[in-house]
Amino acid sequence: MKGRGMTAKHLFVLFFVTSLCVCHSFAEEQKSENMACIDMVKAGFRPIDDNRQTRFLGKVASDTALCRGGEKATAFRYTPWVDWSNYWASGDSASLKEGEEAITILGEHLKPNGRGIDGSLMDLEYQRVELIKFNLFDNYTYEEFIKGRSGKDGSTIKQWDAMRLDATSPYYDQVGGAGIQLCGGELIRYRTLTGICNDLINPKMGSTGTDFARNVDFESTFPRLGKTEVARNRHSDAEHGMRIDLLTPDPQLISRKLFTRRQSADNGCNDGMGASDPSSSAECDYLKAPFFNVLAAFWIQFMTHDWFSHLQEGRNARGYTDVGCKSEEAQALGCRPEDQIEPSLFDQTSEPGRFQHNNKQYLNRAFKTTQNTVTAWWDASQIYGYDDISLQRVLRDPEDNAKLAMPSGYLPLLASCSESTLGDCPVQPQWQGQEAAAFPDNWNIGLSFYHNLFVREHNYFVDQFRALQGSSPDADSGLRNPSAPEKVITYQQVTDEELYQAARLVVSAMIAKIHTIEWTTQLLYNDPMYRAMNSNWFGLFNLEEGSRVSAAIRKITQNDENFFSRASDWLAGLFGGSDKAETANSWYSVFASGAGIFGLQNTRPEGMLWWEKDAWDITNPEHVNGGVNHFGSPFNFPEEFTSVYRLHPLVPDLIEMRDYHSANEIGDKVAVLDTVRAGATAQMRRYGLENWALAMGRQRLGVLHLQNHPRFLQNLPMPHLDTPSQKIDVVALDIIRDRERGVPRFNEFRRQIGLKTLTSFDDFVDRRLDPGSPARMAQEQVVNDIRSIYGTHTCDASKVISDVQLNDDGSPINDCHGAPDGSVVDNIEDVDLAVGWLAEYTRPHGFAISETQFHIFIINASRRLFSDRFFTSSYRPEFYSSLGYDWVMNNGPLSECPYELETSNDGIQQCNEPRQSNGHTIAVSPLKRLLMRNVPELREELMPVVNVFDPWARDRGEYYSLEWTPRKGAELDPAFRP
Ligand code: HEM
Repeated sequence: MKGRGMTAKHLFVLFFVTSLCVCHSFAEEQKSENMACIDMVKAGFRPIDDNRQTRFLGKVASDTALCRGGEKATAFRYTPWVDWSNYWASGDSASLKEGEEAITILGEHLKPNGRGIDGSLMDLEYQRVELIKFNLFDNYTYEEFIKGRSGKDGSTIKQWDAMRLDATSPYYDQVGGAGIQLCGGELIRYRTLTGICNDLINPKMGSTGTDFARNVDFESTFPRLGKTEVARNRHSDAEHGMRIDLLTPDPQLISRKLFTRRQSADNGCNDGMGASDPSSSAECDYLKAPFFNVLAAFWIQFMTHDWFSHLQEGRNARGYTDVGCKSEEAQALGCRPEDQIEPSLFDQTSEPGRFQHNNKQYLNRAFKTTQNTVTAWWDASQIYGYDDISLQRVLRDPEDNAKLAMPSGYLPLLASCSESTLGDCPVQPQWQGQEAAAFPDNWNIGLSFYHNLFVREHNYFVDQFRALQGSSPDADSGLRNPSAPEKVITYQQVTDEELYQAARLVVSAMIAKIHTIEWTTQLLYNDPMYRAMNSNWFGLFNLEEGSRVSAAIRKITQNDENFFSRASDWLAGLFGGSDKAETANSWYSVFASGAGIFGLQNTRPEGMLWWEKDAWDITNPEHVNGGVNHFGSPFNFPEEFTSVYRLHPLVPDLIEMRDYHSANEIGDKVAVLDTVRAGATAQMRRYGLENWALAMGRQRLGVLHLQNHPRFLQNLPMPHLDTPSQKIDVVALDIIRDRERGVPRFNEFRRQIGLKTLTSFDDFVDRRLDPGSPARMAQEQVVNDIRSIYGTHTCDASKVISDVQLNDDGSPINDCHGAPDGSVVDNIEDVDLAVGWLAEYTRPHGFAISETQFHIFIINASRRLFSDRFFTSSYRPEFYSSLGYDWVMNNGPLSECPYELETSNDGIQQCNEPRQSNGHTIAVSPLKRLLMRNVPELREELMPVVNVFDPWARDRGEYYSLEWTPRKGAELDPAFRP
């Protein structure tokens, strides 16, 4: 049933011009598309649904598809995959409608290419709004979310008792004890160690040790336990009974048959270990992504260590359990039946409670929950710590306590523990000999690289600040102490601790910015995503302005002349405070895209016109905290977030070393395994940060597909485990952990998050490829392998298998998936999540990840910005310092721009790339600037680089090219040889 939801005509007022004026350009275009556009406009826009069973699903009406992408868009509407990827201009230059280029701003939205881009952005915004509406399931507060409180819609609630600090917290009294809890004073100045008091009125939110949330309904979790009728119907049949369990199908067989990288004969790969002499010609084959480099692979591991972890001090639950590999078939493929692992840690394991609302029964949490053992905030806790033990691994510089220790430009090593201190030792045996870092688990050369780099950045910032302390000791640093708000803090008064903490804020914000506008735009390499991610940060109306508007915010309102941006910020603030779900969440989200989430509500305009004067006041909790929106559900990552970040295929087995003096030559091939844990220490020092950056910057990472997992991770030594093999298959573990933690299997997972259901394994094959083409045949072979593992069964049409979605005709989805009752059908419902998303061969252009993973990102990537006051209303000089505020805006000191600064009409200086890229004028990227100042040896190499995560020697071409061709000057690089 379509509800009274907000209509998208309202919703997309931001796209007003596009939506209503599209008919003016018809005369010049193909008749059929013109008519489709007219009919699309006449039909109006679909409402945001009130009923999740009839939500959007990324599939549009045929007129809409025709209008936005011509016949190539309509041709694939029958597939389960999202439609926008077939719209005009959403791919490379072949997706552009030639001869229809716009020459006016209006034309940019009316012509086919503009319609394609705008249409893609609309589809993405629909998905985001509906994900926020239907997919927030918090394990502590769900009952209130559903029932509401005191007449308020649950999704507009902003404060929860469950997010109070309990009496065991050392800060309990400080935040108000048993009374109203409100963080203030020292607790709100900085990012706290455990992440408490990011939200002033929900002190516990996002802090270390809180339970992961869910993006799927609680009833759908732990399907292997068969707790609900639909789960039993979905995964059992008359011939086999319940078909899924912890070790069924065998995760080791899945690993060896579906995940192992195929190797050409005698290439010397040696199961990913390469040759003992790294200068030999050994190779390990892998499927390479032409537009994404190895730096990008380790970047995301570096990020995940900031966001989430399930392990406590590197360990799971005590005890050991088998992991499969019992069949002859599996053993013949090389797995080890004697492998054992520690089982997952759980938090709540008792039977969940149930409650009634509007004649429907709900679970109040998942069947079991797990804890996030680090802070969920984007606070660089992997560097700075997340609890008392991890803090002991963070080593400060004894010479300057505002700095982190970097003797000779590299991180010091973790100290070994003596026998007597072993009990409380912050250094587990497996971490000994590693470089010092708060989060030391699964350490390798990539993590060593980023930790060294960002600690250098921390210290660089401190040096620049110290220079100002020397040159302008009495000037205002911008910092304020909330306990003494009136007092100006001059540069010379800033203490070491204040400076250290300000530097932490800057480093965290730089990381968030790099991730949002640099890493993600290369991960999802097409124009709609470029615009979407930049609008997340800067705002939709500021895309081409880069630091201009950001700088304007720094000037605190007076100079931001972008009316739409200011209006959006103001409206988002207005709507965020509403008690009505639709206004507080859907409208809010849309207007936040207009203004950009970063810096949202960090000014309080006052006066006749809203840009007149800024009344933001650090003593007013509403000003400090007022920019956040949790959409009625306390912020933490969901369990499913971890699942979709299991990106092990990104890692190559061998890294091709280079020397920056002769960047076009490949030298040693270093096995990643030789850099794992303490191995990274010697390797980092042997080749140096600059050469590792160069090597990983030029080498392509592995594509996220089946049969592309690193060999070495299937045989990872675990000397600290007391098991017969002291090895694990991390690849199989990816499957086992998801099953243990109750993540739904792939098809139900898709239905839960608003994507179309698959009806057979054949749906994985990319139908855009020519039948009989080698690429399509290879996919068909993999599909056969999937079928050989998961099997088939005789279906029973009377069994309804899901209550979250319906068939197109409104009927329930049943066990036969549209086939006649009693047919033999694929066990598509049993496919593990990771197998499914790796098998998604049909992806939007330039997507390094699958659309299923991407939808988990859409909701959580926005939320981790929306919920964090340090990225919204507390993004202020009072917390960051004036230097820090500008640093984040301008990607570091503008005086260090590698090119001549450009000055805009309103006098604001910008550090831009000298040439446009993919049709956009862009600022010199934050990571490029950061690398240039902290690893100056790379300056020349980096000059032609536009995005640090695009292989450095690749020619980016004209428009989102994925070609693997060298840029000028890199023709001799052997990586480009056929
Ligand atoms: C040398 C490289 C790597 C090694 C040695 C490694 C090792 C491991 C191991 C042993 C686990 C299992 C922990 C457990 O459940 O007991 C794990 C989990 C995981 N890895 Fe990796 N990994 C590497 C690279 C990466 C990369 C590049 C990513 C990309 C994001 C990644 C993402 C994850 C995630 C998301 C988990 C699950 C964490 C959790 O359960 O909280 N890993 N890795």
